Amino acid sequence: MLGAPAHSTRTTPAAPGGEVLCEAQRRESGRLMRVNHSGEVAAQALYQGQALTARQPEVAQALRHAAAEEADHLAWYEQRLRELNGRTSLLNPLWYAGSWAMGALAGALGRGAGLGFVAETERQVELHLRHHIQRLGNADARSKAILEQMTHDEMQHGAQAALLGGQGLPIPVAAAMRLTSRLMTYGSYWL
Ligand SMILES: [Fe+2]
Ligand SMILES: [Fe+2]
Repeated sequence: MLGAPAHSTRTTPAAPGGEVLCEAQRRESGRLMRVNHSGEVAAQALYQGQALTARQPEVAQALRHAAAEEADHLAWYEQRLRELNGRTSLLNPLWYAGSWAMGALAGALGRGAGLGFVAETERQVELHLRHHIQRLGNADARSKAILEQMTHDEMQHGAQAALLGGQGLPIPVAAAMRLTSRLMTYGSYWL
């Protein structure tokens, strides 16, 4: 995910066909998709870190499965960034390391807190994607189709984590997560 191209098991939801984007729209779409790509790098790190410290084998297995599913998302973003002549964020190693550490810590806190952390992450990602769908408007239909499929996937990931025993997080923890995500959104938009 850092350097090596991601491989997807599902084809991109972006419908094939020509598209006409003005230069300003292409650049803006490239920035938004770069931010979203960073989010997927962080999600993979979160799942991988947590899978390592989760004590219950079925939880670790579910986390590894979820990390594999996020690989589709990474690959779709990489493909779309190439189409837009965009690039991935220079800050991705930082987001990966930070998210891996947070995931490992969450896993060590036990099943309820760890999976609660995953459920809250997916909920925040879902809200973030809905916001980006609005920002894209109708001009960039290909990017929008990817974000819509992804919103659906992230909702399922969140629901699965809650089903496996994820518990609600304390308000300050959820607020700290929102702050971190805002930092990532801002950093990857520009860098
Ligand atoms: Fe994802
Ligand atoms: Fe997800």
